[in-house]
Amino acid sequence: MQNLPRRSFLQVTAGAATTALVPWVKSESKSGKKYRTALIGSGWWGMNILRSALADGSVDVVAVCDVDADELEVSVDEIDGMTGKAPKGYRDYRELLEKEKIEIAIVASPDHWHALQGIACLRAGAHVYMEKPTGHTVLESRAMLRVAREVNRVVQVGMHRRIGPHYQSAMKFLKEGKAGTIGMVRAFVQSPGGAEKPELNSPVPENLDWDFYCGPAPLRPFNKRIHPGGFRNYLDFANGQLGDWGVHWLDQILWWSGQKHPKKIFSTGGRPVRGAVILNEKEQTSDAPDHQVVSYEFDGFTAVWEHRRFGGSETGKSKVGCYFHGSQGTFYLGWKDGWTFYPSDNSPVVHEDPRFDHEKDGDNIPMLWRDFIDAIQTGRRPVADIEIGHLATNMSLLGMISQKLGRSLVWDGEAERFPSDEEANALLKREYRGPWQYPT
Ligand SMILES: NC(=O)c1ccc[n+]([C@@H]2O[C@H](COP(=O)([O-])OP(=O)(O)OC[C@H]3O[C@@H](n4cnc5c(N)ncnc54)[C@H](O)[C@@H]3O)[C@@H](O)[C@H]2O)c1
Repeated sequence: MQNLPRRSFLQVTAGAATTALVPWVKSESKSGKKYRTALIGSGWWGMNILRSALADGSVDVVAVCDVDADELEVSVDEIDGMTGKAPKGYRDYRELLEKEKIEIAIVASPDHWHALQGIACLRAGAHVYMEKPTGHTVLESRAMLRVAREVNRVVQVGMHRRIGPHYQSAMKFLKEGKAGTIGMVRAFVQSPGGAEKPELNSPVPENLDWDFYCGPAPLRPFNKRIHPGGFRNYLDFANGQLGDWGVHWLDQILWWSGQKHPKKIFSTGGRPVRGAVILNEKEQTSDAPDHQVVSYEFDGFTAVWEHRRFGGSETGKSKVGCYFHGSQGTFYLGWKDGWTFYPSDNSPVVHEDPRFDHEKDGDNIPMLWRDFIDAIQTGRRPVADIEIGHLATNMSLLGMISQKLGRSLVWDGEAERFPSDEEANALLKREYRGPWQYPT
């Protein structure tokens, strides 16, 4: 562990603490095995996953890694409080992997780190629960998939909708043909928003290793809008709404259709409401599009992605979901509002099984975690296997490549290349800032 303020250093190296086990943390998993586990990226979502893993009873949390010493300290303290044992804290995941001999890694850092850290964890022998997207660029994600297969480890991608009861019942309804022949799908996120004023840059907080946070991405001036959580809207670190929500909802289209990739992609959009992108030594704005419409041509149907960060939805609130338009009606698949089928012959609207409780279905991490452990123990592929994550991630990354080039693209999904289009192929990867090396 390096460069942590003294208070954090003392706390994170304190070793076993005396706090009693909290009642909801099971003492052992169904098999009795507790896997030596580390969390890399201990922010909001990483700790959500870890709490579910602890509640499952299948982990011994031996280490936590974050480049923000304050985040690290808070999470180590919380784990200590839950389990009675403080994990070791690390700033550098490479040091963690070298020293801790872990069996499971949870990767929940910002998107531009996922593949690089995921691959390092696999190479260190760990099974990986990684957050979506599986890469910031297509070839990173491809490398993650290739290494997972090469070392024969389980990779569960955090696409919890794959295991959520109402998504599964929606897929059953659609695959049974109850909406007829589906010719078009529209996936969307609608949220309120407005103009974005630039925020003044500020000195890097003492607790944060900003250079390590940026890692392979360009080193830009620190701005408090980026960390924590805000990195999603900065294209150096993520891919905006399409790379965030898009992975979950575009995956519904792949899941329903059984197809692996589109043949043609066209994206349009921009920042007419948020305003011009600003990045200088004094101040900066985010740079992701405030709205985007992407069309994907598949065999036998067309899919459209649409997001807006202004205007809200018909109800004025944020809304996410998918409309499947079929010959027998329109099927709406939502999040906490479940699913509904509107028949085109005016017969009664069909609602899903009312037993599904959508507050509990907000995320399905406990189920996804259990599936991950079962996959490790039985040697099967998990429900949100790395290949599923890779293909869903590609959907959003292909949309972003078209957006950057301002034109349509033809995609050879088997070869994962744009035929005769070297300008587009160049965007399948990015330049890394040294000393980080692009995974191959
Ligand atoms: N599956 C889902 O439904 C879902 C929901 C929310 C978030 N997520 C994903 O989880 C990830 C984290 O999101 P968040 O909202 O928790 O962000 P966050 O900013 O709260 O947490 C990210 C943490 O990673 C740390 N970090 C940055 N660089 C690091 C490095 N090199 N090594 C170790 N730690 C590093 C940051 O300091 C921060 O504490 C994102 O990729 C996001 O897409 C998924």
